[in-house]
Amino acid sequence: MKKYVYIILLFLTELTYLNAQETNVPTYLNFDKPIEERINDALSRMTLAEKIAMIHAQSKFSSPGVSRLGIPEIWMTDGPHGIRPEVLWDEWDQAGWTNDSCIAFPALTCLAATWNRDMALLYGKSIGEEARYRKKDVLLGPGVNIYRTPLNGRNFEYLGEDPFLTSTMVVPYIKGVQSNGVAACVKHFALNNQEFKRHTMNPVVDDRTLYEIYLPAFKSAVQNGGAWAVMGAYNLFRDQHACHNRLLLKDILKGEWGFDGVVISDWGGAHDTKQAIFNGLDMEFGSWTNGLSAGTGNAYDDYYMAIPYLKLIQEGKVGTKELDDKIRRILRLAYRTSMNKNKPFGSLGSPEHSDAGRRIAEEGIVLLRNKGNILPIDLTKSKKILVVGENAIKMMTVGGGSSSLKAKYEILPLDGLKKRIASNAEIIYARGYVGDPTGEYNGVKSGQNLKEERPAEVLLNEAVSLAKDVDYVIFIGGLNKSDHQDCEDTDREGLELPYNQDKLIEALAKVNKNLIVVNISGNAVAMPWVNDVPAIVQSWYLGSETGNALAAVLVGDVNPSGKLPMTFGRKLTDYAPHTVGEYPGNKEQLAKSSKGSDTINVAYNEGIFVGYRWFDKEKIKPLFAFGHGLSYTTFEYGKVYADKNEISSDEQISFSINIKNTGNRDGAEIVQLYIKDIKSSLPRPVKELKGFEKVFLKAGESKNVTFTINKDALSFFDADKHEWVAEKGDFEALIGASATDIKTSVKFNLK
Ligand code: BGC
Repeated sequence: MKKYVYIILLFLTELTYLNAQETNVPTYLNFDKPIEERINDALSRMTLAEKIAMIHAQSKFSSPGVSRLGIPEIWMTDGPHGIRPEVLWDEWDQAGWTNDSCIAFPALTCLAATWNRDMALLYGKSIGEEARYRKKDVLLGPGVNIYRTPLNGRNFEYLGEDPFLTSTMVVPYIKGVQSNGVAACVKHFALNNQEFKRHTMNPVVDDRTLYEIYLPAFKSAVQNGGAWAVMGAYNLFRDQHACHNRLLLKDILKGEWGFDGVVISDWGGAHDTKQAIFNGLDMEFGSWTNGLSAGTGNAYDDYYMAIPYLKLIQEGKVGTKELDDKIRRILRLAYRTSMNKNKPFGSLGSPEHSDAGRRIAEEGIVLLRNKGNILPIDLTKSKKILVVGENAIKMMTVGGGSSSLKAKYEILPLDGLKKRIASNAEIIYARGYVGDPTGEYNGVKSGQNLKEERPAEVLLNEAVSLAKDVDYVIFIGGLNKSDHQDCEDTDREGLELPYNQDKLIEALAKVNKNLIVVNISGNAVAMPWVNDVPAIVQSWYLGSETGNALAAVLVGDVNPSGKLPMTFGRKLTDYAPHTVGEYPGNKEQLAKSSKGSDTINVAYNEGIFVGYRWFDKEKIKPLFAFGHGLSYTTFEYGKVYADKNEISSDEQISFSINIKNTGNRDGAEIVQLYIKDIKSSLPRPVKELKGFEKVFLKAGESKNVTFTINKDALSFFDADKHEWVAEKGDFEALIGASATDIKTSVKFNLK
């Protein structure tokens, strides 16, 4: 009996102890409590100094937590194509870790070219897992700036020229990343459409253009993707830097869109304490200081949102309301990421990630031209194949700016082809031209020795003479990640291919009919030889699996199914910014500007007519249209039917169409819906993308595709009313295989 009393007493004591323990758990650490309650509690426990510390960097990529309270630091990483290798605390040099090699995923242009939402989810989930394994809380990506000019050095990091395509693809990417308890940081908000003078350019853009073209991807990232972080851009807008721009951050992002996450400055993008306080910047990174040696004391303390902010508060010049809002957002970020108790552990360099990278790459490669069906390569009839070009042997994961990576491996195109083809045919290689034999970024070295001393003429002649008696010539060239190519901080200097590649391609075309040109780039390039080359493939920077993916497409293991997310023009002046618009900026200001800090206006006179909207309006025949991409099979489009011919503004309308694979290979077609406003009170694009579906069809199979839209797809942004307006009248739904290949259409009326 005594024994039982003892046990009961022990049990009661334990219970009381546990209860007491539970009640002792402070609210901010009680994960049964709603996040907002935890945030309020944490905030109430923090000192002013702790708060100020939290809103700016403590190292190149981290900000402090509150060590006293057990609130962790926040760690960030680039982005957006793989997890950047670890750099030193205060320097850009490598930390020298040996466990930080990542899987390099294809650049975002390639993801956009898949036009496949599932690929965007797979991408986000996989890269998020890599970030989580590396203990990163924020991934600095995706980049969603609109492709305004093909000269922009960072287009390869973005999702193309169309607001609907970018707005759609960004959502699953973000959801995938964030399912790992890693925040996506959508960048660069906003109007960062060129790298030339990126810190001082001041785009002159009207409200309608802003809302219709340049903001939708960000809005969708925030409202549909639920992004937890947004990065301000380097440039100015309406004379105020984007990182503390009242209109962009306070009025639109946090006001109109209700964004509850953090705004992070681009590295060195903050310039003014008061604007940073009041206009919506939450975390300042990478300001002028190099960390410790520049400035006084600890230079991080000299950030605009460090001691200068503290002083203003202490002197009573500003209150703490704004500071508390910033802290609330940062704590919210912490509870979603570093303090997220449900987050998985992630994984790095896994076979699953390699596989994801390869699938995305294979789906994003675009077959631009295939005259006489010379692709896929017929291995049964090939004995000898010549591969020409520097990009066949050059690593592309190193270079290009902050998206540069230290990849666990990178299969080069030549190696991928050899692996796949060598048992069928002999593969020989000729360099053909020399581009940039170097390969280093921030101390990551490609380790390749691409030195070539022979003169250009000798290299060209060698390639041409070898090309004479082979079954196929595969030229693999394009741009690279060096300055003035596809590279951060510089823009391209022209639309043409560099390093005399045009001359080489023309010479090869003369001696071998079976010439395949593979263009590796993140941008459109001019192709003056287009009619002389039977097969042209647009490859992007495909990451670790480059060679495997490319070989699979070239030999037909994979049927190409990518389509262009941007228009390929024939010449630079086909693009609006290079005729009616300004690029790189106001000529007078550029001529007069003596200081690097002078603001340079860039008038976006073309307004909403960006990309195919401009080509349509001016009836310019593109080299390859937006949405263009061929397959090794053929598709037949049926007639489109609408489920009604009239809708009111609160109704939906659906368009259905039958698509048939009429060839003898399985394949996928990207069916595009464009809407045309037949008559409107103000100029509108001839048509705008408002839907797309990637349909996978077995040989001979057919499927119905249905698009459902509502008045949002018919609306324009009325700047005077500051709202989206759909005008009554006739519209047309156009269904096409690209922006210039409309197969069928149907009219309907908005009552
Ligand atoms: C780039 C950002 C990048 C950051 C951190 C900046 O120069 O513009 O895109 O995330 O550096 O590396």
